[in-house]
Amino acid sequence: MDVKDLSWFPGHMAKTLRSIAERLPQVDVVLETCDARIPHSSRNPELDRILGTKPRVVVLNKADLAEETWTRAWVRALETSSCAAIPVDSLHRSGLDRVRNAAADLCAGRIERAAERGRIFRPVRAMVVGIPNSGKSTLINALSGRKAARTEDRPGVTRGAQWIRGEGPLELMDMPGVLWPNLGSDFRRLRLAATGAVRDEVVSTEDLAEGLVGLLAARYPDRLRARYKLEDLSLPAFELLEAAARKRGCLLPGNRADLSRFCAILLDEFRGGVLGRMTLETPDDIGADRIAPAVLPEAGD
Ligand code: G4P
Repeated sequence: MDVKDLSWFPGHMAKTLRSIAERLPQVDVVLETCDARIPHSSRNPELDRILGTKPRVVVLNKADLAEETWTRAWVRALETSSCAAIPVDSLHRSGLDRVRNAAADLCAGRIERAAERGRIFRPVRAMVVGIPNSGKSTLINALSGRKAARTEDRPGVTRGAQWIRGEGPLELMDMPGVLWPNLGSDFRRLRLAATGAVRDEVVSTEDLAEGLVGLLAARYPDRLRARYKLEDLSLPAFELLEAAARKRGCLLPGNRADLSRFCAILLDEFRGGVLGRMTLETPDDIGADRIAPAVLPEAGD
């Protein structure tokens, strides 16, 4: 995959990372959103370093777009004594009570000590962090039961962190989304771009579609074949795109395949869940950041 600029890292993101580190002592727990389709690639390693052992709830957001079997495997892989992992569909507001309970459980010791001293523990203070587009605003809106203002990720419009009252004993601190320098390996960049976490800044649509079709041919061959009426998935990714474009009627004068039109369709359909619920990486893949991991069983296998 052709990456446009290896030194890619907007300056305001470095500022956000510093701001997260500064505000960490003010909160009891961190809610870290990631995309349940790519729970490894959508977690910022810089955040991981900054958050250290702070009690954390990893919110596997957009769980409605991921395969349940693999989401369960990710939950098992991510949970530790100071970290809970909860699948959530913020858009349709499911999994929210589990997030509230997990946040409270991680602070249970402090709540009990406060009760012993006859004091009612103040609301649990949670900082919401994650990469852009991982659903932080949607999660905050869902947890607070209202339409909260969005914290922008762009330079110039980033506001200071703000407290938002959640439903139940929870206060939320909204932070802007943050990525990390260079975005790691091709493995991660492909998955981040395919799910819409990073847009055109990092990869061109056609390079991205080529990477995605290769990934889907390895991960979900039956669905790819059925959706785009492809016969021979052993073709190089570029030829698969051409064949699929023709079948879809994306043609230019001279009967040439209109690749840019088809690539946009493929990305839209993948991102919109038209191809079905998909998980693009499993806990077993991440050790070596493998680009073409073993074929996953299709749902229900
Ligand atoms: P952010 O604050 O972390 O940047 O993310 P935000 O809440 O804005 O969500 C980004 C996109 O993801 C939004 O789509 C939102 O509706 C969608 N989204 C958030 N949570 C979920 C979820 O649990 N399930 C599903 N299916 N979608 C979710 P959008 O408004 O269409 O924006 P865009 O994708 O066009 O940027």
